[in-house]
Amino acid sequence: MDHKLNILQSKLAESALGGGQKRIDAQHKKGKLTARERVHFLLDEGTFEEIGALVTHRCTDFGMSEQQFLGDGVVTGYGTIGGRIVYVFAQDFTVFGGSLSETHAEKICKIMDLAVKNGAPVIGLNDSGGARIQEGVNSLGGYADIFYRNVQASGVVPQISAILGPCAGGAVYSPAMTDFIMMVEGSSYMFVTGPHVVKTVTNEEVTSEELGGATTHASKSGVTHLVAANDVDCMDKIKRLLSYIPQNCEDKTPQLPYTIGNEYREELGNIIPENANQPYDMKEVIAGIVDTDSFFEIQEQYAENIVIGFARLAGRSIGIVANQPMNLAGVLDVNSSKKAARFVRFCDCFNIPLLVLEDVPGFLPGTDQEWNAIITNGAKLLYAFSEATVPRITVITRKAYGGAYDVMNSKHIGADMNFAWPTAEIAVMGAKGASEIIFKKEIESAADPAEKLLEKEREYADTFANPYRAAARGFIDEVIQPRETRRKLIKAFAMLEHKVVNRPRRKHGNVPL
Ligand code: HXC
Repeated sequence: MDHKLNILQSKLAESALGGGQKRIDAQHKKGKLTARERVHFLLDEGTFEEIGALVTHRCTDFGMSEQQFLGDGVVTGYGTIGGRIVYVFAQDFTVFGGSLSETHAEKICKIMDLAVKNGAPVIGLNDSGGARIQEGVNSLGGYADIFYRNVQASGVVPQISAILGPCAGGAVYSPAMTDFIMMVEGSSYMFVTGPHVVKTVTNEEVTSEELGGATTHASKSGVTHLVAANDVDCMDKIKRLLSYIPQNCEDKTPQLPYTIGNEYREELGNIIPENANQPYDMKEVIAGIVDTDSFFEIQEQYAENIVIGFARLAGRSIGIVANQPMNLAGVLDVNSSKKAARFVRFCDCFNIPLLVLEDVPGFLPGTDQEWNAIITNGAKLLYAFSEATVPRITVITRKAYGGAYDVMNSKHIGADMNFAWPTAEIAVMGAKGASEIIFKKEIESAADPAEKLLEKEREYADTFANPYRAAARGFIDEVIQPRETRRKLIKAFAMLEHKVVNRPRRKHGNVPL
């Protein structure tokens, strides 16, 4: 028996070493943790149970029979985070550069299948050179098996991808179909083809960092949702993200214990400037509404004219979509529409109520926007709100102009409660633009056209630059004082807790992609 136990022990020890100490040292030298170390930092102490530690690849070409590593380049299993079950796979760069073989893919698929059957999140810690080149189509098939499962799991269990090394080729498409992507500054890259291929095909000279580093994907492409300073920080961010999210699409939103107290927030009354053209920071409004330090921003550096993220309100998770007057006056454009639409759809998948804070002067005009399909992309946000069945509340803090009024979770597209501050201006457009159009002849024929324009602007503003026309129609349920916003929202979300919406049966809608 002892002999047999020893065989098992030595196999598990061999598996734990992955591609060997030399390659582990090389990984550490790059400032990266190994797959097992990452799992250790991610999960609650001592909870990891490994599955498939003894799996080996089946490739016999190119002398591969002689190169066997137990576990085949991916550590898979389950454990808990904050006491809740999660399924994890962590690619091991020390084994063939974390490249994906047929059996490596099978291990990942097994984990994903278990996660879906048991209704718990899947976390992928990616560090991979893509398809294992020695395996050819077997590897490509393995990728496709994962992609297919990513799609079947989408909206059923949360899927989170951390990119922790150079991820090329197929290694980026599975993360792209998951709900959230995180990257680490300076050590993670994502590209379909690397700088060498780029140079060959397009003659562009570009570094890995410029082409697909964390900063590039956080600010230019929007591919990544969160950026971490290092591997440990990345694991911490995954844990924080999961703390806001239910385990699966039928689970309830997490709720921390909370006792209602004095929920008035006087500071909210001092944020909106006297001059309607002056910007202010919508994140101050968010901070004044949500539980202290609970706002967790997503895609912070991308399309900064809209702010998205999770927070807690009286202990309960909510998703926030807010126009940001500090950036491009908070306009809706191609990137901000796409950013917000995907977030709204995520929250709707997982029963996370939505709060919209609105101060939007409209859609951004111009050829750049039109040629980049602001029509289709703006429609994504309209579609996302319209189809969402979670509790949805809007607070208009200032401008709600034009089509953007409709799009930003208006009553007409199914919002449950629409509040406005007394500073709200709900109109087709700003007073100046409106006056220039509807009083054009009168202004042109006036003795002093500039003075006439000002007079007409004032007239239009007096009529429409307020929330009362909309309140009179019931499009706004209540005009509220800023200081009572938090209190009103806590009560309204509690009132909506058991909201049920039944939609007509259909296969699926056709979101304007
Ligand atoms: C097999 C691989 C590998 C791969 C790396 N290795 N990538 N083995 N298949 N795809 C091995 C190396 O041989 C090496 O083995 C070890 O991993 C570390 O690789 P290095 O090159 O020494 O490391 P580094 O300098 O850090 O460069 C990492 C890298 C580079 C940027 C990932 O290795 C690279 O460019 N790899 C190829 C990327 C690629 O083109 N993949 C295929 C994409 S096509 P030893 O034994 O020396 O430790 C694809 C199709 C799927 O994925 C499409 C689906 C839609």
